[in-house]
Amino acid sequence: TWTPDHFVDSAVTALQNTIGPDDQVILGLSGGVDSSVAALLLHRAIGPRLHGIFVDNGLLRKDEFANVLKAYEGLGLNVTGVNAAPEFYAALAGISDPEGKRKAIGRTFIEVFDREAHKVQGAAWLAQGTIYPDVIESVSVHGSSVTIKSHHNVGGLPDDMNLKIVEPLRMLFKDEVREVGAALGLPADILNRHPFPGPGLGIRILGDITPERVQLLQRADDVFISLLKKHDLYSHVWQAGAMLLPIQSVGVMGDERTYEQVVALRAVTSVDGMTADWAHLPYEFLAEVSNKIINQVRGINRVVYDISSKPPATIEWE
Ligand code: XMP
Repeated sequence: TWTPDHFVDSAVTALQNTIGPDDQVILGLSGGVDSSVAALLLHRAIGPRLHGIFVDNGLLRKDEFANVLKAYEGLGLNVTGVNAAPEFYAALAGISDPEGKRKAIGRTFIEVFDREAHKVQGAAWLAQGTIYPDVIESVSVHGSSVTIKSHHNVGGLPDDMNLKIVEPLRMLFKDEVREVGAALGLPADILNRHPFPGPGLGIRILGDITPERVQLLQRADDVFISLLKKHDLYSHVWQAGAMLLPIQSVGVMGDERTYEQVVALRAVTSVDGMTADWAHLPYEFLAEVSNKIINQVRGINRVVYDISSKPPATIEWE
């Protein structure tokens, strides 16, 4: 029978037999479950010969880069944090089209990752946190003629480096990945984290992306996510987040007229992200989130809740 401990033992042995004794391995870390579990597994097999690269694209959640980097270091991982936010913002300047954003973010990620990967002497392998559903999805996506959204994930392949690919999780389902992560001591907040798209807040800011708009959304999103956790609702939804809309609306504060930004809250239940229902969160909870965002996040004067299911509405707005 499959147990996480057996899996860890046999995967570690297999990795040690596959990866040469002097080979260095590169892995892109995203802060998500899959890449983090892959890192811990490889770390157990080859220690500091695993070189994690964690890129701050400036589109992560509030304080996420610093917190996750600290967690990785606490786990003893050999990881380099790369602050590339300015490069991403520059690449995104003036782009408001969703596919254009995805392409700019994906391209910039590969440039940054490539540059960092080249700094690793003796690199022979690129590790990826691919899991079984990704293997299936990429087959079906490439087999179909329609691309709904071009997905960008961590781990572009630096092509002149001749790296071999190692994917230690490619036979696992998500729940098994979580069990393996728990067996390897991954902290609960990374283990139970909601899925988060590779392009990050870039596809949750409709219209132009500027550092100011990113900060505004980070603050609203942080209120939403913190309250979900506080009220023990976080683990009951598949995914949640705030979207910054490209419009302003009129409001009133004291006896002043305001004309400010609108945020849409999105929370869904789902089994695999392919279909989803909007989460029927309690009205009192939504009221608390709305009040807190409007009171604390200067620049937002209206909060709406997305009550669309997938299909036809996708989880992300872009
Ligand atoms: P949609 O918006 O297509 O999203 O309903 C389904 C799931 O996929 C995530 N998503 C992405 N994940 N790179 C990713 O790694 C991407 O480009 C990307 N686009 C969407 C989304 O957050 C949801 O969990």
